[in-house]
Amino acid sequence: MTLSAEPVIEVLLPAGGDRTLPQDTRIGLSADPKSIPPKHFYDEVGSELFEQITELPSYYPTRAEREILISRGAELAALTETSDLVELGSGSADKALLLIEPMLATGGLQRYLGVDVSESALRSALKTINSIHPELQVRGAVADMTRQLAALPPAVGRRSVALLGGTVGNFPEQPRRRLLKAIADLAGPDGRVIIGFDKVKDPAILVAAYDEPEGVTARFNLNLLTIINRELGADFNPADFEHVALWNEDEEWIEMRLRARRPISVAIDGLGVSFEFAAGEEILTETSAKFTRQSVSDDLTSAGMEICGWFEDSESRFALAVAKPMPAAAQ
Ligand code: SAH
Ligand code: AVI
Repeated sequence: MTLSAEPVIEVLLPAGGDRTLPQDTRIGLSADPKSIPPKHFYDEVGSELFEQITELPSYYPTRAEREILISRGAELAALTETSDLVELGSGSADKALLLIEPMLATGGLQRYLGVDVSESALRSALKTINSIHPELQVRGAVADMTRQLAALPPAVGRRSVALLGGTVGNFPEQPRRRLLKAIADLAGPDGRVIIGFDKVKDPAILVAAYDEPEGVTARFNLNLLTIINRELGADFNPADFEHVALWNEDEEWIEMRLRARRPISVAIDGLGVSFEFAAGEEILTETSAKFTRQSVSDDLTSAGMEICGWFEDSESRFALAVAKPMPAAAQ
């Protein structure tokens, strides 16, 4: 067995953060209604708050997906025959290990590449994976999956690309379908794609997962304002805003918003602009779409893929889909 050295981390984003925050903030706060994309939640504090969310009693997706990975991991490994695993939006090492272990047990897995915008989460996850599995080649890329997948190294052997946690639902339909297409390209013609989808269910259960009495999701949402203060020299007072989570029946997604408690003027020195908020005005900070097997199939078909494996938890709250490229003639 060859012991691997420290994990190699390539930073595709410029040091200090994602360069799209200035333009996303300028465009998003000038729009009506105001919005900021959710990828900006994940600085070191945001990544840590997300980990706390995953342990909340009402936030079921993480437990449901873990249950699938634990109970069906061997089948998943046999179905994908992975030698080269790429995990997008990898976050902590927890789920990566649940994928890696059955894939190593089949004897095929050689390398793992984690991809995340959060450098702190990525470094800590890779360190953990490397220390537990020194036989694996462990690498990372601090990169934005919506823009930088083409810059990742090519596959060596059969590649599987995983996107877990229901993160795919944080992209609205058209960007999500573009992302799925880029993921299919990254996996390659012989590759497999493993994606976690949170399912449509009773809105009361959904809302409770995003607006719980512990207030951790509220802190996660409000931390976005602290990030904009630090990165762009803004003077948001997070106490001026309240966390809102609601179920949008038409879109079949949860929306998180930040609602101004009173009329507010915010100066953003780094952009040289100010923005006015009326009392009650909101910033849309995240949509988290929920899926049926049909809507998953429609999305995958639009990206030239077909479902070749479908795994649900014991309460049918969450699904892991395995997909492969459709033969060219079928597209
Ligand atoms: N996969 C983990 C973490 C989910 S949280 C789990 O299932 O628990 C979402 C993760 O995706 C965070 O680590 C966040 O930093 C990352 N992320 C969000 N938007 C991203 C983007 N555009 N590109 C790369 N990573 C992104
Ligand atoms: C990462 N993503 C799948 C989470 C979700 O459920 O949409 C982010 C999150 N937002 C609030 N709570 C968790």
